[in-house]
Parts: sequence; structure tokens; C-alpha cells
Amino acid sequence: MSNKKIGVVGAGTMGNGIVQVCAIAGFDVVMLDISGAALDRGMSAIQKSVGTLVKKGKLTEEQQAQALARIKCTTDYADLAGVDMAIEAATENAGIKATILAKMDQAVGETAVIATNTSSISITKLASKIRNPNRFIGTHFFNPVPVMSLVELICGLQTDGLTLDTAKSFVAQIGKVSIVAKNMPGFVVNRILVPMINEAIFVLQEGLASAEDIDAGMKLGTSQPIGPLALADLIGLDTLLMVQEVLYESFNDSKYRPAPLLKEMVDSGNLGRKTGKGFYSYS
Ligand code: 3HC
Repeated sequence: MSNKKIGVVGAGTMGNGIVQVCAIAGFDVVMLDISGAALDRGMSAIQKSVGTLVKKGKLTEEQQAQALARIKCTTDYADLAGVDMAIEAATENAGIKATILAKMDQAVGETAVIATNTSSISITKLASKIRNPNRFIGTHFFNPVPVMSLVELICGLQTDGLTLDTAKSFVAQIGKVSIVAKNMPGFVVNRILVPMINEAIFVLQEGLASAEDIDAGMKLGTSQPIGPLALADLIGLDTLLMVQEVLYESFNDSKYRPAPLLKEMVDSGNLGRKTGKGFYSYS
């Protein structure tokens, strides 16, 4: 990728994380969202996170200033003109993503790669919303983006080799590692991870052990950095339920049925860290 300009649509947790890693890696970044308030929240999160890197000595103050100066915030899709790659990182909703992708497609030039950060929606289906589906690809980042090393690359039916190579090169330039997955529900990581978390919720619901003991068991017994219930809270219980439902409906297999307790938690509005309460409470 020669010109090194990236557009990111969505300033939420995933979007601002992607913007941050791109800006630190030296890309000029356009961060787009629907309101100034959403952009302000995204920029505050980036400033806080980058500030922590400076305090820890991982970034100099000069590098911090340069990275922040590379970020342009906008609500206008026309500002995506000239980007080499545009990544959609909006709400995980097929209708919303389709609308946004169509706008991105109109705004970027004909050779730009268009990517989506979906965690479960079909890449082939989303590709049908843009003029040239050959240059469309899934770039699935992991939360928290500044910390997690992986980006899953998902090719749709029509994604071409040049687009995959461009995406691989982009991932390497932001200092992350890519794996390539076929366009099947959950791709690789969520196909394995989300049912594991769902099973932990079944175990809690059935009263086999307390939340703390389930998490301690999986942390200490399988060397996971945090237990599955704490991870559920980090991911967001609504997101988790949505991915589990996609697996259940797509494979039409009862082994993927969502735990009733997960549904209850989502219905109650306790969605994890983002609402202050999930399987644990957060101040
Ligand atoms: N932004 C930037 N840095 C962060 C951060 C954030 N949001 N959260 C934590 N960090 C940094 C900390 O500053 C710290 O840095 P240091 O090592 O330089 O001091 C380091 O990460 C470790 O953080 P903490 O000591 O505060 O806490 P932990 O040791 O518990 O680590 C964690 C936090 C890295 C999030 C760790 O708990 C972890 O790896 N958890 C698993 C995360 C995971 O599995 N994510 C994938 C979710 S699935 C997904 O996203 C897919 C989706 O489609 C559902």
C-alpha cells in the first residue's frame, strides 16, 4: 500500500481502536461517525489510550502528537475520497452495515479496498452492496484492538487475490498478524470462542460452580488471560448473543443454541462492562 491513507467508519470501541493503531503505525486516518459527540467520545478514548502508552514509555510525546495529528474526524462521507482502504466498523447489524457500505462505496475511489469489521455477517452478502465486490474483504479485529495481535481476514466469494494481498500488507504494517478464513459463520475464532463462552454460561446457569470459580478454573486450568464470563462482559453480552444466534441459525444445529441465561441477561439490559454490570459489576 503506497499512499497510506485509511478511512474508518465508526468511532466506537472497535473503530477508535483501529484508528489508533493505524495512526501510530504512520497512516493518515479519516475517522467518520454520524455525530460530533460520537467522534468526540472516540477521540477521547484514543487520547486516553495513547496517553497511557506515553506514561509507560512505549511512545514518546512527539510520537503521540504526530499520531494524533494524523487523525481527521468527520461526519461527511466525501472526506473518504482518496483513501487506499476504508474499513467499516459500525454496529453489528446487517442493515446498518449495508447502508454504510453503499455510502462508502460512493465516496472512495474505484481502486480502494473496502473492508468490514463484522464478527459474523456474511462477507459475500455484504459485498453485494458495493459496485465491485472483488475489492471487498472482511478484516475482523479483536477487542481491545490496541492489545490484541490478530486480524482475521475473510474472503467472500468474489474477493480477489490483490485485495487479500493488500489487506495482508496493511495488517503487517500496523504490527499485527493475520490469518485467512473462509466466509463461514463465526469465521475461525468466534466459531470456537463464542460457543465456549456460551457453555460457561450454561455451567453457571446449571449451578455447577460460581462465576468466580468458573473463571478461575478456566484461567488457571487452561492459561486463558481472563475467564470466559469476564470475557463475556468485555465483549458485551448483546454481541455475544448475536454471534451465538448467527451460529445457531446458520448451521441449524442445536449444539449452538444460546444459553437461556445469556438471553435473560441481555433482556435485563445488563450487557457487561459497557453498562457497568454483567456477570460482574464494574464501577
Ligand atoms: N486499550 C489499550 N491497552 C489496554 C486496554 C485497552 N482497552 N486494556 C488493557 N490494555 C493493556 C494494559 O494497559 C496493559 O498494558 P501493559 O502490559 O503494557 O501494562 C495490558 O493491556 C494488560 O492489561 P491489564 O494489566 O490492565 O489487565 P489484564 O492483564 O487483564 O489484560 C487484557 C487485559 C489484555 C484485555 C486481557 O485480559 C486479555 O487478553 N483478555 C482477553 C481478551 C480477548 O480474548 N479478546 C478477544 C475478544 S473476542 C473479540 O473481540 C471478537 C469479537 O468479534 C467478539
